[in-house]
Amino acid sequence: MPTSVNVAVIYYSSTGTVAAIARAIAKDAENAGAQVRLRRAAELAPQAAIDSNPAWAANAEATADIPEVSPDDMLWADAVILGTPTRFGNVTAQLKQFLDTLGGLWQAGKLADKVYSGFTSTSTAHGGQESTLLALYNTVHHFGGILVAPGYTDPSKFVDGNPYGTSHVAGQGDIPVGEQTLTAARVQAERVVKFTRALKAGLAAEN
Ligand SMILES: Cc1cc2nc3c(=O)[nH]c(=O)nc-3n(C[C@H](O)[C@H](O)[C@H](O)COP(=O)(O)O)c2cc1C
Repeated sequence: MPTSVNVAVIYYSSTGTVAAIARAIAKDAENAGAQVRLRRAAELAPQAAIDSNPAWAANAEATADIPEVSPDDMLWADAVILGTPTRFGNVTAQLKQFLDTLGGLWQAGKLADKVYSGFTSTSTAHGGQESTLLALYNTVHHFGGILVAPGYTDPSKFVDGNPYGTSHVAGQGDIPVGEQTLTAARVQAERVVKFTRALKAGLAAEN
């Protein structure tokens, strides 16, 4: 019987690109044998801002059924895969706000020894995908997390070119998530599940 693995896919998305990647990664982790929770970070923007952008309003409606993330999802998870669009080369305030609610769990040592990984999207090709993922990973180090990035561990990584995590160039929202990004999502999800299982089994054998 393989070791059971709980994966939380926690993301923020305004206009749906990162939401599409999150759904794909959640499905891929499930296909790799994990129990999965797909969770979205709470919106912080005013309703007027959302309503002023049809793609934003449509994504809010399309993802209303996805539960909002809570700190309990972090406790439940053996692996946490975090997704955020780029904001000036950085993590969105919405995802960061959720991370910033975790001080109590961090202090109690409850965020350590889990696997973490991340994904992102930008408008432009050099718009800050790597800087966003590296900024996200700063927090993982503070948690005492085990970072499992995809690296160039699959031939497809030499095509998509981002060893830091799955990423997508969305243009002005007119470039939907396609085969290349979906392949990156699958490779990353499978790698996270594989190493989480190995870590969990190894730690159990130690104790
Ligand atoms: C305030 C703000 C800052 C942004 N900064 C960047 C940026 O630095 N580089 C970039 O390529 N795209 C930037 N974008 C575009 C988004 O990252 C891009 O549209 C992303 O794919 C949207 O993902 P989503 O559909 O999941 O919301 C920015 C968008 C906003 C609203």
